[in-house]
Amino acid sequence: MAQPRVSRHGEWSSRWVFILAATGSAVGLGNIWKFPYITGEHGGGAFVLIYLLCVALVGLPVMMAEILLGRRGRQSPMNTMRLLAEEAGASPRWAWVGWCGVLAGFLILSYYSVIAGWALAYVVRMASGIFIGADGQLAQAVFERFLADPEAVLGWHTLFMVMTMVVVARGVRGGLEQAVRLLMPALFLLLLLLVGYAMTTGAFDQGLRFLFNPDFSRLDPAAVLVAMGHAFFTLSLGMGAIMIYGSYMPQRASIAGASLAIAVADTLVALLAGMAIFPVVYANGLEPGAGPGLLFQTLPVAFGQMPAGVLFGTLFFVLVVFAAWTSAISLIEPAVTWLVENRGVRRLTACLWAGVATWLLGIGTVLSFNLWKEFTLFGLNFFGLLDFLTANLMLPLGGLAIALFVGWVMRERDVAEELALKGGLYRLWRWVLRYVTPVAVGIVFLHSVELI
Ligand code: PFF
Repeated sequence: MAQPRVSRHGEWSSRWVFILAATGSAVGLGNIWKFPYITGEHGGGAFVLIYLLCVALVGLPVMMAEILLGRRGRQSPMNTMRLLAEEAGASPRWAWVGWCGVLAGFLILSYYSVIAGWALAYVVRMASGIFIGADGQLAQAVFERFLADPEAVLGWHTLFMVMTMVVVARGVRGGLEQAVRLLMPALFLLLLLLVGYAMTTGAFDQGLRFLFNPDFSRLDPAAVLVAMGHAFFTLSLGMGAIMIYGSYMPQRASIAGASLAIAVADTLVALLAGMAIFPVVYANGLEPGAGPGLLFQTLPVAFGQMPAGVLFGTLFFVLVVFAAWTSAISLIEPAVTWLVENRGVRRLTACLWAGVATWLLGIGTVLSFNLWKEFTLFGLNFFGLLDFLTANLMLPLGGLAIALFVGWVMRERDVAEELALKGGLYRLWRWVLRYVTPVAVGIVFLHSVELI
């Protein structure tokens, strides 16, 4: 390509800002809220090991491929896929990868915002001091009482959606770059502090053993699918979020280096969260498989017992909200760019449409923890169904399509030019993307179909 394309939506001010923004997208509720509870539900160490393998063998190569696509196309995921497919002489139907991605982002954000709303509510609860000296039972009771009140949960969901759409409406660069720069390191430090506290609980060893001792007899058959789905979810892959962020990436920055930095930071945050939570679970006789409420039922106990716990606890939930915030904007950004490009609306109007639709769907998740609790399909409530459909099916399928497109459909010359990676490393990446990734995703899928 003689002249690299330029995105009409703007560009990050540096390579470093791209890494920060993409890490902001990757590090979110997936690391702090979801990883610990699914690890608890699926038996610990063996699950963690499979998850780490999925991150390395599937997540990292797909992330490089997705950023590469974004930077080469520099448009919304649908238009990028269509353009690059035409360039490669392939069917414009590849644009469907973009469509499915936008749909996945919309579905994910609808429940993501509700959970982020829980974290917002907990900022206030922590600050009020009700958890001072609390035990596991009290923390559980407070959480259950909160969930049983749909109006309160809806209110916090609404607030979070408004926060998200305000940032997206102003463009990703306005303010967000600064915020991420400060908040990500602060979150990391607070997590370290919490791990420090976990060491004093007397159950640190037990927590670590649960997390890092692979006991394959405790692995249930669904665990592999969940672990793989989570690798995509936690790295924000398979739905165009990283693609759209890549489309704002400066031309000279290294895609491989950035991907590695993002994946390592993301994994570290998840492991730290696990190391902070499981010792508290064991020290207080809580249940590791407690499900989506795990974070909200364990950490308040830890904060309630440590000196200056009200301050640190409040700060911690503020940071969880920020981590969720920087992820939420990337979930809706692909839809907004498409509306601007193809519907000719202003960014603000696009945000309103997308925001209101997401907010409405979110009401289903709000109700799935109270009034609609009894309505289940395949044993899953509304929230569980959305989560399963998106994280375990749509994201891995999107990732598979991206791997196949970059590995088999695009002209190799274009791929090599965009990635600009030297010799052996390039060949290794290409081989993994062409063979290992599709086979791994395929096997996990076939296996799970058998399960169903
Ligand atoms: N990676 C985010 C997390 O771990 O919380 C969630 C997410 C963001 C998933 C953006 C997908 C995405 F496109």
